[in-house]
Amino acid sequence: MVMKSSVDLQTEIGGLCLKNPVMTASGTFEYAGEFIDLLDINRLGAIIVKGISLEPSAGNPPPRIVETPCGMLNAIGLENVGIHAFISEKLPFLRTLSPPLIVNIYGKRIEEYAELARHINDADGIAAIEVNISCPNVSSGGIAFGVDPLSVFEVVSAVRKQTIKPLIVKLSPNVTDITPIAISAEEAGADCLSLINTLTGMAIDIETRKPKLANITGGLSGPAIRPIAVRMVWQAVLAVSIPVIGIGGIMTASDALEFLIAGASAVQIGTANFVNPRATLDILEGIETFLLQHHIEKLADIIGTIKI
Ligand SMILES: Cc1cc2nc3c(=O)[nH]c(=O)nc-3n(C[C@H](O)[C@H](O)[C@H](O)COP(=O)(O)O)c2cc1C
Repeated sequence: MVMKSSVDLQTEIGGLCLKNPVMTASGTFEYAGEFIDLLDINRLGAIIVKGISLEPSAGNPPPRIVETPCGMLNAIGLENVGIHAFISEKLPFLRTLSPPLIVNIYGKRIEEYAELARHINDADGIAAIEVNISCPNVSSGGIAFGVDPLSVFEVVSAVRKQTIKPLIVKLSPNVTDITPIAISAEEAGADCLSLINTLTGMAIDIETRKPKLANITGGLSGPAIRPIAVRMVWQAVLAVSIPVIGIGGIMTASDALEFLIAGASAVQIGTANFVNPRATLDILEGIETFLLQHHIEKLADIIGTIKI
């Protein structure tokens, strides 16, 4: 039998059609320019840039990154150029790239999220918004928006009112049960969910007895979190009818396939970009090879095929 040379890798995430399911995770690909000489960015399914706030932010003081077993802790503190500089300085270059551009946003108040969504809605060249709800809600005493179904509903509804662009809501794993959070985001008008963001962690230098991060705690990412992410993606897929994007410790095509089989329609690659800047394309090629070897003609035929 002659093996077919290509497979249909197209997928759809909340109204946005992607030529393949592999995209970059926010905060691990900057504004893409730094990667231009390292890989053919135009082969990606989509590009997600560093989280943007209304005002520029310098982030937390160093040290901001610590290596941990099978992962890393980061407390970058969402350093970014702010929405106005993003639109005037970063967007012109990003518009020259062919993959759809997804802008990740965060705020400390609901009004900030809404204002960011309004600016993005008016900007050309942005295909979708990803709302990071892992930030502390200043008005509610610093508890992250994403850990309470009611505040998830409020922030997602406020963003929804400001934009007609596809809305991806990025969920925090720092919750007891992801199901009510996922349902709340869907009910508030999300077109798609992405999960997981980092898990809160801490590391201590035993000689100085000080935390290794200046911020004391940080977000754990990398292969260490993958089984938790696969479990949460599977639970979210069962709970909602909108598409789900899998994120968390994806280093290889096999890792990505776990998420797709669990029901994710696409995947984001984060920490792997620091180890291998070409990780996204290696993963993409690996998914294609797997499908070819298993005589699966299109990506859609593997999504959600978990056997329980
Ligand atoms: C250095 C660093 C910066 C990050 N910045 C953001 C960010 O700005 N917004 C966001 O939603 N997630 C951010 N994340 C979370 C990632 O997008 C991703 O959800 C998480 O790292 C898990 O995926 P991974 O294990 O593949 O890295 C960041 C992660 C890292 C490691």
